[in-house]
Amino acid sequence: MIKPIIMGNWKLNGSKKFIRNILLPLNQFLIKYYNICTVIIAPPILYSNFITQTLKNIQNNFFLGAQNVDIHFSGPFTGEISPIMLKDIGISYVIVGHSERRLYHQETNEIIAKKFKILKEENLVPILCIGETKEEKIFNKTKEICKKQIDVIFNLCGESAFNNTIIAYEPIWAIGSHNSGSPKEVQSICHFIRNYIKSKSNQILKNFFIQYGGSVTKNNAKTLIYQKDIDGFLIGGASLQVEEFMKIIEISN
Ligand code: G3P
Repeated sequence: MIKPIIMGNWKLNGSKKFIRNILLPLNQFLIKYYNICTVIIAPPILYSNFITQTLKNIQNNFFLGAQNVDIHFSGPFTGEISPIMLKDIGISYVIVGHSERRLYHQETNEIIAKKFKILKEENLVPILCIGETKEEKIFNKTKEICKKQIDVIFNLCGESAFNNTIIAYEPIWAIGSHNSGSPKEVQSICHFIRNYIKSKSNQILKNFFIQYGGSVTKNNAKTLIYQKDIDGFLIGGASLQVEEFMKIIEISN
């Protein structure tokens, strides 16, 4: 079994008070998982430095991640997040293509592929979110949608695109719905994703992992993590309930 990769996507949530309350207990809890599980926390980027300062002179037992990135390094791009500035503050893992970016910021597959490419060129680790809507699922278009979201990456980045990357299969209908996909159906799609990417890669895939995201909780984490093609989780709501997040990590190892 590989080291699970469990990421907490805080989205637009959190505060200095919240971080002060949860960070030290969470970091202390993670000591025993440091070499057996990769835990990443993606807070609102505004709090990344506060988190770093709060853990100053203490071993960090998790990695900091980012929820988005722009394709520009610097210049007249008000409000954007630079990939080299993320590197500068010690962030390596970056979510791209989250359904909420696709929905609220009209991020197309092409824009997402450009962000993915820049991250790879800067030796950062993209967490590429893919997944279908409820309607697409009903019309059995899940695999077609995932293929399209993957193909645009291969077209721009070539046959070794997915080395040193993570794909988060996040069916949109499962996000925030308290209704995760069934272990069997999630496994089937993750198996399809892995085989499809293998078939289009020109060499043995290195450091390629598949997470599942969408209403992961302490109640479903065990059956999901035991699925052969699920290497970890991308967790929203449950990552803000720190006891629950710790339980998911414990269950997943
Ligand atoms: O990025 C992970 C997120 O979209 C899943 O959210 O609240 O269903 O765990 P949630």
